Amino acid sequence: MAKDLALSAEKNINASRKILESIYRLSKKHQTRAFLVGGPVRDLCRSKPKNLRSIQDLDIAVENHHAEIGQELAQKLRARIIRYAQFMTLTLHLPDQTHLDIAQTRKETYARPAILPKVEPAAINEDLYRRDFTINAMAMEITKNRPYLMLDPFFGQRDLKQKLIRVLHKKSFIDDPTRIFRSVRFATRFNFEIEKQTRSLLKTAVKNNYLRLLSAERVLYELQMIMPEPKSKAILKKLQKSGIIKNLYGTNLPIKFFSEHGLLPAEKKLTHFFAYLPYAKWLKYPLKKEIAQSAQAIQQFAEPRRKLAKANKPSHVYKTLKLMPGPALEILSQIEPKPIKNKIKLYLGKYSKVKIFTTGKTLQSLGFAPGKNFSQILQTLLYSKLDGKIKNKNDEKKYLKNIRT
Ligand code: CTP
Repeated sequence: MAKDLALSAEKNINASRKILESIYRLSKKHQTRAFLVGGPVRDLCRSKPKNLRSIQDLDIAVENHHAEIGQELAQKLRARIIRYAQFMTLTLHLPDQTHLDIAQTRKETYARPAILPKVEPAAINEDLYRRDFTINAMAMEITKNRPYLMLDPFFGQRDLKQKLIRVLHKKSFIDDPTRIFRSVRFATRFNFEIEKQTRSLLKTAVKNNYLRLLSAERVLYELQMIMPEPKSKAILKKLQKSGIIKNLYGTNLPIKFFSEHGLLPAEKKLTHFFAYLPYAKWLKYPLKKEIAQSAQAIQQFAEPRRKLAKANKPSHVYKTLKLMPGPALEILSQIEPKPIKNKIKLYLGKYSKVKIFTTGKTLQSLGFAPGKNFSQILQTLLYSKLDGKIKNKNDEKKYLKNIRT
């Protein structure tokens, strides 16, 4: 295992080096400058300096010809390109599952708070100034020689050392309130503090309801970014403590939510989160149907829970749970008290897989008149099989013979 990791780390270094060399050559060819920007620069500075080991996904900005450079690089790397013309950005999806963004350096203007900005080409310094926090506003010019030239006009390296999340200007949270989520996410991920003035700007932005101006899509995106974080629970606790949850959803998450959250795999955390918040507040979120239905099913679990507590036969458990969405059951099987949890687990692992041999066609061939009672008969057979009264095909035949005569 350790050997595999070492090998793949080594491969990453070489892969990143080769890509950066190609980018350098292309930038020369197109007579522009190219930069490594944002997250990767921050992560490189945090880990071993001048070491490309920690970079997973590259974030590149060029001052001109981003489309041509992206196209030529994609050909060289056999990458699939997705173009975001409106944002002057390309994403290259590489065969090794990593991705690389190539963007035109730009400045942004916000017509109104909380809407997406208008972007226009600009030089690297303006591009850094449009960014969220000092630690994310650094760039490394990709040159022939390493170490690369560092651009750090807002003292991001100082803030990395002092472990601080700091905005670049006073309007940052107003222009883009998603940064409220981002500040808490980065602070928690890196174990940093939100710098004092930034904290006060954040509080004011929340108090003045700027979060509520964000579109449903953008809030959902931020929540989706939080759930896979290793410290997602601490992030959500801090969001609650800062009044952000209450501001958006009109209520706080109960203590129970946080202990349950820790029991769930990342892909179930969002569903579980919505299960604790009023439906009316997230109904407009563009959620997958399965997530919305599961969150609602968990909200309405009081009645099925009562029935399950009394259920003393497999068929009773089956009847109670058969209409519930799978993801809701998987979540409940982790967070419910033991007796209920065990019954849900039995349903998921055993009862829901029980099948009978008889079908509608069998009933027809045996001369049963088609109609409503078909499903009744099939259901009775299934319940009898679940409860052990019927064990095999022969038992089914016998049962059918009995009810026909
Ligand atoms: N950015 C910003 N404001 C936002 C979103 C992004 O200024 N609301 C800038 C930051 O400079 C950030 C970069 O765009 O570093 C890339 O954004 P993203 O990929 O979301 O963040 P990363 O910093 O790469 O973080 P992660 O480690 O979570 O990928």
